[in-house]
Amino acid sequence: MDRYTKTAIALHWIIALLVIANIGLAELTEDLSREARGPYMDIHKAIGISVLVLTLARIAWRIGHKPPPLPASMPAWQTATARLTHFAFYLLLIMLPLSGWIWMSTYPAPFAYFGLFDMPLWPVAGQEVLGETLHEGHEIMGKAMIVLVVLHVLGALKHLIIDKDGSFQRMMPGGSA
Ligand code: HEM
Repeated sequence: MDRYTKTAIALHWIIALLVIANIGLAELTEDLSREARGPYMDIHKAIGISVLVLTLARIAWRIGHKPPPLPASMPAWQTATARLTHFAFYLLLIMLPLSGWIWMSTYPAPFAYFGLFDMPLWPVAGQEVLGETLHEGHEIMGKAMIVLVVLHVLGALKHLIIDKDGSFQRMMPGGSA
């Protein structure tokens, strides 16, 4: 069966690890005081910006390198669900970091990229209503991302264990293509 390119596989797993780390950083520090949470959220913000950049690179790569076709044995509803889930992933991978970044710009609350340089802010300082909307949106999309990751992993495991149609292996590192 055709596999994803090495670049697509690398981007998939780097982005997956960063997103899971970011969900962990946000959820596990939720009950800390604002001061204690600060350093964790600094990392959360920098990881989020990395995800945005890597996702744009991934989309650019995908435009030039069509993904391998889904197994012909897959029923139409599953192909449609897979397409919808993948589209929702790309949407969230862009909108989640973007909402966080523009939301921080409304205070404005400057933040640094891993202590290396200050991130430029969007020209929206003082726009409280926009900030509140983006805050809400970030939390809702964060929850949606958690649901999507769980569904995605369950779907992948179904292909590996039940269907045994080789589609799981297409995204595993270590192959030739
Ligand atoms: C892949 C990128 C990102 C993911 C997956 C992500 C995910 C999350 C999640 C799951 C939460 C917890 C929401 C809740 O309270 O239930 C959260 C909170 C938060 N995120 Fe992100 N985020 C990302 C990027 C960013 C970026 C780029 C920024 C800012 C530059 C940011 C700023 C924040 C802040 C400040 C909170 C705390 C919200 C609060 O408790 O009031 N995030 N994020």
